[in-house]
Amino acid sequence: MYKITLLFVALFILSSCSTSLSKKEVEKYTIQGKEIAQATAKKLGGTLVEKMKDGGVKEAVPFCNTKAIPLTEEMAKKFNVSIKRTSHLLRNENNKANDKEALVINNYRDLLTKGKGLKPVVELDNDGNPHFYAPIILQKKCLACHGEVGINVTKKSDSIIESYYPKDLATGFKEGDLRGIWSITFKSAVE
Ligand code: HEC
Repeated sequence: MYKITLLFVALFILSSCSTSLSKKEVEKYTIQGKEIAQATAKKLGGTLVEKMKDGGVKEAVPFCNTKAIPLTEEMAKKFNVSIKRTSHLLRNENNKANDKEALVINNYRDLLTKGKGLKPVVELDNDGNPHFYAPIILQKKCLACHGEVGINVTKKSDSIIESYYPKDLATGFKEGDLRGIWSITFKSAVE
């Protein structure tokens, strides 16, 4: 009897903590994650372009400084998820990567140096919530604020950036470099 009880306890523990997502779920969260990342990038980018047109880096950097995180939060609420943009080379320390995000970033950097394509990653996090990660690749339009100082980022722009972010590490990127990652948590735990 004792052995049987033990067996049931073991089975119960095994079945109650599901540690992986089905293929279908992975597909679903990959599609949703991509949509959310794209919509957020569009929201941030669209407003940024307007500010750049209005007054260049001088206007756009203070805008990013006060609005990048609140705008991201706004999109997170809309989609009922949490959204983070993080990087190995940070501008804003509030965007610091956790251990898992740092691993994902390192893996993407490794793949990129080997000339391999980068794909989104979907898996369950420690709380049992589905989590979406995807690379953020540096584009031409990002160079004015994240490119090489003295080449893409003017000395003047750099000093504006430094005045808001004295510990800035997010310059020196080239087109096609890994700028960072999207890290999106879906709140609905898997049944
Ligand atoms: C006008 C200057 C400007 C441009 C152009 C710009 N950024 Fe940024 N970026 C910033 C600033 C300022 C921050 C810090 C925002 C904050 O305080 O949250 C930032 C933060 C980020 C972060 C968050 C991680 C971190 O380092 O804090 C990522 C990722 C990022 N930018 C990617 C991009 C990409 C990709 C592009 C092009 C599509 C781009 N940026 C274009 C100024 C810019």
